[in-house]
Amino acid sequence: MKNNPSVLIIFYTRRGNTAKMAQAVAQGAIEEGANIKLMRIADDVPMEIIKKDETWFETHQKLEKTYPTSDEFAIIEEMSKADAIIFGSPTRFGNMSHEMKKMWDLSTDLWFTGKLIGKVGGVFTGASSVHGGQETTAVSMMFPMLHQGMIIVGPSYDTKELHESGSPYGPSTIVGPNSDQIKEVDLVVARSLGAKVTKIAAKLAD
Ligand SMILES: Cc1cc2nc3c(=O)[nH]c(=O)nc-3n(C[C@H](O)[C@H](O)[C@H](O)COP(=O)(O)O)c2cc1C
Repeated sequence: MKNNPSVLIIFYTRRGNTAKMAQAVAQGAIEEGANIKLMRIADDVPMEIIKKDETWFETHQKLEKTYPTSDEFAIIEEMSKADAIIFGSPTRFGNMSHEMKKMWDLSTDLWFTGKLIGKVGGVFTGASSVHGGQETTAVSMMFPMLHQGMIIVGPSYDTKELHESGSPYGPSTIVGPNSDQIKEVDLVVARSLGAKVTKIAAKLAD
């Protein structure tokens, strides 16, 4: 049993919603005693494209201040040290973002050396429509975790809000044309994942 397991939360965001979900996951982890670290994956889109969209550029600049990005190799290095790792990505055509996939595709050394084997983790996401692929995105994020030997934890129905938000695969939110606010139930489920991963990491860590 380890009292203060280290929980690394890795996320990508374009419009900032996945960052808000990451904060809720972090809060749940902290409430269970975790030492948390949030790491944001950078946009893999040329700046001239981002600048063409005023809202995107503005959000990009704000995010750079609040959540400075780390390069993939720095994130990968932190992954090898953490007791638990939780991944968040917006839904991209029912799949994780290419920024997150790229990070995994650069993680061969972790795989060869088995550094993630036995580490506990979970996933969370967001999408712009009700059935926009939240569950498939959550599951897509699990594939590399399983290949790397991780133990996957999802939210569970002792969190009653799971009947209204997210799925047993992972917390999620709907932020799009019809709603620009993350609901409290989404945040409750996100916090529950952070808490549950931390509790299990504490039991598993040496
Ligand atoms: C290329 C692209 C693909 C997307 N695919 C989906 C999708 O399959 N389903 C959906 O509901 N929303 C989709 N969206 C909307 C995003 O999931 C939504 O804007 C995102 O979750 C917001 O998260 P963020 O604020 O962290 O960037 C897509 C957005 C982009 C840019």
